[in-house]
Amino acid sequence: MTEENVKNISAAPLRILVVDDEPHAAKFISELLQADGQQTEMAHDIAGASAALEKGSFDLVLCDMRLDHEEGTELLPAVKRLQPDCLTVFITGYGSVDTAVRAIHEGAFDYISKPLDLIQMETELKTVVARTLKHRETLGAKKGASLDIPINNEDERHMVGRSSAMISVYGALARAALSRENVLITGESGTGKELVATAIHEKGPWAAKPFVTVNCCALSENLLESELFGHVRGAFTGAVQNKRGLFEVANGGTLFLDEIGDISLSLQVKLLRAIQEGEIKPVGSNETVRVDVRVIVATHRDLPQYVLDGKFREDLFYRLKVISIQMPPLRDRVSDIPDLVRYFASRFAAKTGKPLTSVSEEAMDFLTHYSWPGNIRELENAIGRAAAMSRTATLFPEDFPPEIMDGDVSSHSPATIAAAASHASETVISAGESLEELERRHIANTLQSVGFNKSRAADILGIDRVTLYRKAFKYGLISKGGPRKGSASPG
Ligand SMILES: Nc1ncnc2c1ncn2[C@@H]1O[C@H](COP(=O)(O)OP(=O)(O)OP(=O)(O)O)[C@@H](O)[C@H]1O
Ligand SMILES: [Mg+2]
Repeated sequence: MTEENVKNISAAPLRILVVDDEPHAAKFISELLQADGQQTEMAHDIAGASAALEKGSFDLVLCDMRLDHEEGTELLPAVKRLQPDCLTVFITGYGSVDTAVRAIHEGAFDYISKPLDLIQMETELKTVVARTLKHRETLGAKKGASLDIPINNEDERHMVGRSSAMISVYGALARAALSRENVLITGESGTGKELVATAIHEKGPWAAKPFVTVNCCALSENLLESELFGHVRGAFTGAVQNKRGLFEVANGGTLFLDEIGDISLSLQVKLLRAIQEGEIKPVGSNETVRVDVRVIVATHRDLPQYVLDGKFREDLFYRLKVISIQMPPLRDRVSDIPDLVRYFASRFAAKTGKPLTSVSEEAMDFLTHYSWPGNIRELENAIGRAAAMSRTATLFPEDFPPEIMDGDVSSHSPATIAAAASHASETVISAGESLEELERRHIANTLQSVGFNKSRAADILGIDRVTLYRKAFKYGLISKGGPRKGSASPG
């Protein structure tokens, strides 16, 4: 697989409608965007642009402010009606604060001036593209909320994620796959380091060669040495015959050394030699063996700090990190959570035959607001457990472990409760009532006053939807799938 392939899978291009009354200008902008990997369509007036919006779907409309006798802003209602999630950015040759303000006021997302030179235009467009991608990412995270589980994936090793953090990982992964350089993969526990190591091997031209994994922290120093480099008969008690080391077993292919941060300094010397010279010496032998092995290592440790502390050899560190891939923690790529949830749920359904068709919006809210200290592995386990627990085809918040339901303490801090209380003027306060009871009653009143529209209630109370849901659930005001009958009566 080439780097290009990997990119195409992950970073879907933006679909951009370029509207300019001057055909050559539209073409010029269009070509710049295409060169940047985006897909474009062109229109030259409001009618043409509206027709395009009727037919295709777009992430961005890039529209000239003055279209012959028409105003670019006249397109805004059509964009809003036909494609509410699509952004509109105006370009104008008559840059002024007023026009900018007007465009934004009427609902444009951004405004750029029409630069006279190519370089400047390219820069402007790149900024707009970056902002649109960011917008699409946030939107994706929100939209994924109410979902079905259509993703069908039997591939156990599939990598899910479209966030920009993951897209850079795919880029580095592709580069690594196509080379024989050593790779250092770092990241917190459960972020997918092993999955990436496997993918680097499988996507590359040496995929047919061996891929050997060693967990360095699972073995004692002596055992690890003889596992890696082999031993000769009689080298130590119990060495009844010659044994090939894993470097030899992996010859021509890849050796994946997991938890490399934990190996002893003396073993580091031997490893450095194996990597640097391409030769190893089995334990108890005087002869060296030549090997051609690409080494991938992973660790959740802070290796640079280990180097500073003298726990890890600097020369080895540099030998290993020729290509370095840093796996982002899940909390830094929240937009990937809905896809991952769907993926794990569908895999669980396929494996167990249990019919699972959706994840409730509330459950998804919780899942995207939790901090996932155990990263993807924790998410995977949580979905597995929830799916096993659930008695319906939909996963609800109460199917998940309480720590996820309770979320992060920060999101229901005294500040949010104070915010709720500041609106409490319509709730009658009776002496002797506990704060919790008051809160329960206030939330109940608010929910009822807006017909159980949780978004509106959350707005009124000045807390986010997840916090509201959590509290309402805690106070027994709502249950699976909706309000609990009779429980929200005031007083
Ligand atoms: N992007 C992803 N898409 C789908 N599944 C993933 C992804 N990343 C990780 N996983 C899954 O999450 C689990 C943990 O991944 P993996 O074992 O690779 O993490 P790790 O970083 O090696 O963790 P540790 O440091 O604890 O060894 C695995 O079951 C893996 O298949
Ligand atoms: Mg691992």
